[in-house]
Amino acid sequence: MGKYVVTGAASGMGHEVARRLRADGHEVIGVDLADADVEADLSTSAGRAHAVRAIMTRAGGRLDGAVFAAGVGALRGKERLTVEVNVLGVTELLMGLQPELAAADKAKVVVFGSNSTTSTPFVPRRAVRLLEAGETERAVRIVRRMGPLSGPAAYAASKIAVSRWCRRHAVSDQWAAAGIRINVIAPGPVLTPLLRKQLASSTAAQVRSYPVPVREYGTPEQIADWVMIMLSPAADFMTGSVVTVDGGTEALLRTDDW
Ligand code: NAI
Repeated sequence: MGKYVVTGAASGMGHEVARRLRADGHEVIGVDLADADVEADLSTSAGRAHAVRAIMTRAGGRLDGAVFAAGVGALRGKERLTVEVNVLGVTELLMGLQPELAAADKAKVVVFGSNSTTSTPFVPRRAVRLLEAGETERAVRIVRRMGPLSGPAAYAASKIAVSRWCRRHAVSDQWAAAGIRINVIAPGPVLTPLLRKQLASSTAAQVRSYPVPVREYGTPEQIADWVMIMLSPAADFMTGSVVTVDGGTEALLRTDDW
């Protein structure tokens, strides 16, 4: 049986993935703000460093996989928090845990992106580039200038930056040649506490304005099914991919842009 890290393990999709892995007999190191094996605030560099140390201690030198589901939604006024958790909460942990993942045979990493990466209009490209370069403060200043659109812009920019980071690193020698697969899952709206919070916030109209052709929201169970496949040997020949599971929104909005 394997040993897996799951961030965001206390709620929503991360919770469901951790539950499935445990039910299959694997050892799971859950990471979250509270109610987790490792309690850490991934929005601060001290919290991320603590998480890496605590995971390493529990991992004992080897990790068969990691799922990065901790995330913050599109909320105005929380732009800094959003990019810290959604980008650095993935990249800094992955860099810190690379030796543990390399020690396993074909470790699998699944990172939660979002279909907002390709379906959100007016995402400032400069902010994305700054996030990719680790210039968080400057990126946040740019998205804050977008007024009422700053929440969705920060969210989409954070998910674009982290998805690009995954694609770039997945195919590099440090990761691919070390046997580590890194893939991104890009869900559309999934009924979790995160989505419910957004539907009760000032961004509700924007969230509802996205058409979902199948006319229903996704469930954590459906997304966990896809993540389990992406953690299985079925993903041995898969790295750097972004898997969209979104009820058709992306296909509807970008039919020919492919
Ligand atoms: P959720 O809110 O149910 O769970 C997210 C978890 O992340 C929570 O347990 C929360 O405590 C944890 N978290 C947040 N900030 C943290 C911090 N500073 N340090 C440590 N942990 C922290 O959310 P959900 O919906 O399950 O989201 C999982 C991932 O999927 C997120 O990355 C989200 O951006 C992404 N996503 C969600 C969609 C949705 O419609 N629910 C759509 C597309 C992507």
